[in-house]
Amino acid sequence: MSLEFSKKLAAHQTPIPGVVLYDLPVHGDNRGWFKENWQREKMVALGLPDFRPVQNNISYNEKAGTTRGIHAEPWDKFISVATGRIFGAWVDLREGPSFGAVFTAELDPSQAIFIPRGVGNAFQTLEDNTAYTYLVNDHWSADAQGQYTFLNLADETAAIEWPIPLADAELSDKDKAHPRMGDVAPMPARKILVVGADGQLGKALRAQYDGDTSVEFASRAEFDLTSENSFTNRNWKNYSAIINAAAYTAVDAAETAEGRASSWAINVTSVAHLARTAVEHNLTLVQVSSDYVFDGTKDSHDEAEPLTPLGVYGQTKAAGDAVVSVVPRHYIVRTSWVIGEGNNFVRTMANLARKGVKPSVVNDQTGRLSFTEDIAAFIRHLLSRGAPYGTYNFTNDGPIKSWADIAADVYELSGGSRSDVTGVTTADYFRDKEAAPRPLSSALSLAKTRSTGFDPRDADERLAEYLKSENDKA
Ligand SMILES: NC(=O)c1ccc[n+]([C@@H]2O[C@H](COP(=O)([O-])OP(=O)(O)OC[C@H]3O[C@@H](n4cnc5c(N)ncnc54)[C@H](OP(=O)(O)O)[C@@H]3O)[C@@H](O)[C@H]2O)c1
Repeated sequence: MSLEFSKKLAAHQTPIPGVVLYDLPVHGDNRGWFKENWQREKMVALGLPDFRPVQNNISYNEKAGTTRGIHAEPWDKFISVATGRIFGAWVDLREGPSFGAVFTAELDPSQAIFIPRGVGNAFQTLEDNTAYTYLVNDHWSADAQGQYTFLNLADETAAIEWPIPLADAELSDKDKAHPRMGDVAPMPARKILVVGADGQLGKALRAQYDGDTSVEFASRAEFDLTSENSFTNRNWKNYSAIINAAAYTAVDAAETAEGRASSWAINVTSVAHLARTAVEHNLTLVQVSSDYVFDGTKDSHDEAEPLTPLGVYGQTKAAGDAVVSVVPRHYIVRTSWVIGEGNNFVRTMANLARKGVKPSVVNDQTGRLSFTEDIAAFIRHLLSRGAPYGTYNFTNDGPIKSWADIAADVYELSGGSRSDVTGVTTADYFRDKEAAPRPLSSALSLAKTRSTGFDPRDADERLAEYLKSENDKA
């Protein structure tokens, strides 16, 4: 069959999620032909994952009818034909709803196909002297071979219609011995690792991903970010993403000599370690940032505002953001006034209301609450939607309020009176206290967050629900 020249570079989706067939432009003349077999920039623009190949393999097949497979390997492949022609067959052997999906196609040098990790791959040569070549994004190793998943070429469920019947084809003994579909051990998905999983946000992420075995949670005891062993003892090839819910969050203690050291160690040095790990293993890194990276002189902060932190905590969070911003696959989720399972402002006010205390609360710091349940849902949304990498603000929605307004809301919702709360300026409140400087305006613009298709819930509604459950517990 003659080769079709000068096709337009095009991507075609197939019934197997993530398997994409490409038409490649092949330029022919009196000398033969030339093609760009893999061209990162043009193909990524067409939707090919930026899969960072590290090894190129070629199998030369002397005879038509040579048949190899079906092998699912723990890395992605970009397969093409240098010369000759193949019949390719692909079967989804990944754990999940598309397990067992089949796609077949004939490939000559004017086509290529992207096969994600865990999709079984097989081919049969249709011409003598066929050279089959593929790029992979991990180095082959005997250890990795232990993670292969196999399916028998003759499996009745996949029912691949081999152009040359298997009885007449050239097969290896190993390939003849692979299991039928019912006995295949599906390849598990790469996992998401949540570190700092016992903090307020960590607990909400546990609830958000409850029952999802592809997400693993590590408390400080299981993954101490400041320990080298945490990083070296883990096989990062089995992960796709890290969500960093750990941080040094003691804003005032960060101003002390000891606190400054801990804050830099956890919020910067350890974050740099996470970032290096993400770069090295091509992982997505989700970092959680803070309104404290701003001096609070603008009424509303968008994601592009230059960082202007006032205190040590804010400076370390800002430095962490700068580090994470160079990870190719990163999300920085910038949030403020976090409320979840832990010590927080709303809990403190609810306790005071129950005790009948009439507090003074600052009335010149303004912003919006962020309930951890919603931050966790937004992080999941970014990861599952494959939203463009970058920084996103996240708070709950609704009017911008001061801490004193929110305290009054808490009192009212807890059976007290709004007038039990007296407003005081930040300067007066902290006059005789050792405290970190605080941004006065913490309100974050939510336009970019909404542009991803996520509408943050109203903070007042969330506050009422939160207090109902807190008051029921009390
Ligand atoms: N809270 C807020 O109002 C607020 C506002 C804006 C942004 N943020 C950001 O939101 C994120 C989540 O905050 P959060 O309120 O959930 O904080 P949190 O409740 O204080 O949780 C932080 C967690 O990090 C853990 N941790 C500290 N050092 C660690 C280490 N070396 N290795 C492993 N884990 C470590 C802590 O463990 P231990 O309990 O053992 O110390 C804790 O479980 C943070 O990035 C924070 O900067 C928070």
